[in-house]
Amino acid sequence: MHEEQAPAWVVDPGTPSVARMYDYYLGGKDNFAADPDNPRSIVIDGDMREPESILGHPGVLAHLDFTRPVALIMLAVLHFVTDDAEAAQLVGAFREPLVPGSHLVVSHITQGELDEDAVRRGRDVYTATTAGGIVPRTAAQVRSLLDGLDVLEPGVVPLHRWRPKTVEVEWNGMPGGDILGGVGRVT
Ligand SMILES: C[S@@+](CC[C@H](N)C(=O)[O-])C[C@H]1O[C@@H](n2cnc3c(N)ncnc32)[C@H](O)[C@@H]1O
Repeated sequence: MHEEQAPAWVVDPGTPSVARMYDYYLGGKDNFAADPDNPRSIVIDGDMREPESILGHPGVLAHLDFTRPVALIMLAVLHFVTDDAEAAQLVGAFREPLVPGSHLVVSHITQGELDEDAVRRGRDVYTATTAGGIVPRTAAQVRSLLDGLDVLEPGVVPLHRWRPKTVEVEWNGMPGGDILGGVGRVT
């Protein structure tokens, strides 16, 4: 999500689309109440650093049946929690109500080939946004967020190594940095 690729003036908050991803540019406002094409979806406001406010939200409790397996999808969000202990603690809190058969899906930026200066400059950019900060983590650190789960093959690896035969676009990862992905099953 580079500024040149997603200028605020081309984001139409009235249309359900990938513009959802650009809420930095919308300042957290004018996001979609729900996808009107899918009455089975809901959207709530919440801060993942306060898991209980999300897990205990009346909309979530009405929508999800926690006696059955649930997919907890935390894509490209945990790197905004820059404190390692806090990241582990909040993942643990979200996992806590999940029954066996549930899955946790994570993706997370990693330093890859970037040098420390590039990482510092990138982090400075995010510190100045509503995200408040960002931190790359190693595969081992991301893997540790799945501790206690049955980690599915191929493990915590760059995203393009996940089901590479099912995507049509040729993708060899980001230049320099990368995004790791992993899936853990609650047993
Ligand atoms: C890179 S986008 C990923 C969006 C989506 N998960 C995806 O993969 O397309 C990062 C998202 O994290 C959200 N985010 C950042 N910090 C958050 C927090 N403390 N609580 C909830 N969401 C947060 C941002 O609002 C933004 O929507």
